[in-house]
Amino acid sequence: MSEQKNEYTEAELAEMSRDEKVRLGLALDDVELVEYRDNFPVPGTRAERRAERAVAAWFTLAGLSALAFIAVFVFWPWSYQPPSDERAHFIYSLYNPLIGFFFGLAILAVGIGVVQYQKKFIPHEVAVQQRHDGHGSDEVDRQTTAALLADAGVRSGISRRSMIRRTAGFGAGAFGVGAGVFAIGGLVRNPWATEGPESLQHTEWLSENGEKTYLRRNTGNPHEISLLRPEDIDAGGFETVFPFRESMRHDEHELEASMKKGDAPVMLIRLRPGSQPVKRKGQEDFNYGDYYAYSKICTHVGCPTSLFEQQTGRLLCPCHQSQFDVVNTYAKPVFGPATRALPQLPIAVDEEGYFVAKGDFIEPVGPAYWERNA
Ligand code: FES
Repeated sequence: MSEQKNEYTEAELAEMSRDEKVRLGLALDDVELVEYRDNFPVPGTRAERRAERAVAAWFTLAGLSALAFIAVFVFWPWSYQPPSDERAHFIYSLYNPLIGFFFGLAILAVGIGVVQYQKKFIPHEVAVQQRHDGHGSDEVDRQTTAALLADAGVRSGISRRSMIRRTAGFGAGAFGVGAGVFAIGGLVRNPWATEGPESLQHTEWLSENGEKTYLRRNTGNPHEISLLRPEDIDAGGFETVFPFRESMRHDEHELEASMKKGDAPVMLIRLRPGSQPVKRKGQEDFNYGDYYAYSKICTHVGCPTSLFEQQTGRLLCPCHQSQFDVVNTYAKPVFGPATRALPQLPIAVDEEGYFVAKGDFIEPVGPAYWERNA
């Protein structure tokens, strides 16, 4: 048995055909092909065309699903609609299921298409390899491996299956675009807008026409309006409040929506008499006596900080146990993963004795934000 030569010059490798490199790669790795069966040895048979159409159908389905996903993601009315408007609420409630359905179907169809292609067109092969590493140099290894991969591609017949090439390109391309839209779509807002729905810097507490914004408690019934006065909260107590303007009174949708906005909930806290918190620079007049209002949205990842511990004067976030010190500081975090103080809402009491917001928060509420300065 002649010894297998394992060193080749670049010129020798360049002269070899792909088939020769495949045979060399197999020989160097001591691989013996026991069986090598092409599923469609005669090209163009009806069976082959049927198999091609089946694979192409999966890729086409993947592409159509990805396009449908993009269309729903971009155009479907996604903002909250109250149940009082049944039709609008139903359409809104389909947003998440449709996104999940089309994205999932696109992934599934791409996967099935690839598996089907592999099963139907990649030649069936049984090979035996002796247990040891190959003998070739790095360059020989590189070139023979590349030849083996190219050979598998060629033998699968992909170059003459234009229907599969086109549909696979359509399916994978649309799916890739869909994944990109999914990843960055939520960020396509103008963070520098100062008003309107694009604005990330204003909340429902902003009164655009100067109308008075009251602090309203949640009674469980969005149509029942319960405004707060200072005497409604005991010393050491608190209440979760939402914005209310008279112009909302007869607008059922607004009444409900204003209590659903993610950035709207505020904790109105009445400190015990004698507490003298350190006030934040520039926000010295944001409180009304012992009453302080802080965003309820945790600055870690946005859970509601719904526990106020009277003895320690700390607001606690149940998600990851961040604690914000209201009594000694201006709701700065003193424990847990949150790193920023809760934004404070400037409040006052109007001539009729009701709490009102003097304006919006002066910084964005919620977790990390690239232009927050505290
Ligand atoms: S969301 Fe509040 S601690 Fe994590």
